[in-house]
Amino acid sequence: MIWADLVVTGVAEAATLARGPVPRRRAAAGELSTIPDAAVAVAGGRFVYVGSERGMGRTVRLRAGGRKVDAAGGTLVPGFVDAHTHALFAGDRAFELDLKARGMSYPEIARRGGGILSTVRATRRSSREQLVQESSQRLLAMARSGTTSVEVKTGYSLTARGEIGLLRLIPLLAERTGLRIVPTFLAAHAIPPEYSGRPDAYIDRLIRTALPVVARENLARFVDVFCEPGFFSVHSSERLLRAAAGLGLGTKIHADEFVRSGGARLAARRGARSADHLLAANSDDFRALAAAGVTAVVLPVTAFASAAGRRSPARELVDAGVPVALGTDCSPSTWVESMPLAISLAVHGGRLSPAEALTAATVNAAHASGLEDAGTVEVGRPADFSLFPIPTANHIGYRFDVRPSLVFRQGNAISSRTLRQ
Ligand code: NIG
Ligand code: FE
Repeated sequence: MIWADLVVTGVAEAATLARGPVPRRRAAAGELSTIPDAAVAVAGGRFVYVGSERGMGRTVRLRAGGRKVDAAGGTLVPGFVDAHTHALFAGDRAFELDLKARGMSYPEIARRGGGILSTVRATRRSSREQLVQESSQRLLAMARSGTTSVEVKTGYSLTARGEIGLLRLIPLLAERTGLRIVPTFLAAHAIPPEYSGRPDAYIDRLIRTALPVVARENLARFVDVFCEPGFFSVHSSERLLRAAAGLGLGTKIHADEFVRSGGARLAARRGARSADHLLAANSDDFRALAAAGVTAVVLPVTAFASAAGRRSPARELVDAGVPVALGTDCSPSTWVESMPLAISLAVHGGRLSPAEALTAATVNAAHASGLEDAGTVEVGRPADFSLFPIPTANHIGYRFDVRPSLVFRQGNAISSRTLRQ
């Protein structure tokens, strides 16, 4: 007999994503491993039963004081893993929209006082409490949309000390929001004003003084770089990532977002955990990523919102055999907290099937984020899952921005959580 603190019944379909090697590629990316008329049971924050409702009655007992939830014919899916966010910032850039609406490009907006450096000024000026408060609100909005794990990048302080300070806030954000957060060090997000015209001097400073602290104190899981003309060259990016890997840190690259400049090929050459964006990458790049086993993180909301009206090459990546993961890219430039919206745009603009998009948002995003025990519903795994008021999991990609009725992280409902001070 298995004793549980939580049982969920009345699930018309559970998409467990449980079967197959990780990350999922090609046909395997469309396999959700669904269970009809399902039930799950949780004890100590982990799944202890995942199967048919009929089968549960024989094996599981609810402890006195335990919780019973009726999903009322809805769908159960793993908690989403948002594999790429810049959620740690202060202020906003609402003023950029008038410029964007008139067709101004991202670099032009940056030249007019907008862009990353504008958020760097706001973040540097902000108090620690204000920054934590604003970022926590965004993370809680993510949780209400069904996200239970999220990668969060630094990148809006742009000094060695300030960027390390941002990393130190991440455990506090996790504690306040109940989310599992994967920290990524993106000090090479833009060339700081103090190093204008000297990007390599900044990279040297990061390599000499910041990375050793990040590695020694285990402050980040990954190091990322914005590899793009006007930001960091392939050569500078490679120096930084080689140093990071030498210290045992994982690597990611903002690759070929605006211009095809060699970011994806660098990711393949270095065996990075992921190459992200890829809006300007081509089929040669996709082949290189597939051969190197690098996961592509697609960010279809950013593509949708770009002045150039681009689309994520999600379909082409899956067809080329690249494992595809999904993120919101929540940032002051594309302020979006909803993985269901990212999933719908991966389907409608990125041309993934709803099942492929759900795989990208769960098990493959967990892989891209270095979380090997997240993104599936399986006995023994953390009980991170959501209940959606829809008949099948495919409706998440079919409808736009559908919201869960309940979200659980380690078996605790977090969707109604209010911010803890
Ligand atoms: O992923 N590309 C670089 N960074 C972000 C945008 C950051 C910003 O504009 O503040 C991105 O789109
Ligand atoms: Fe990004």
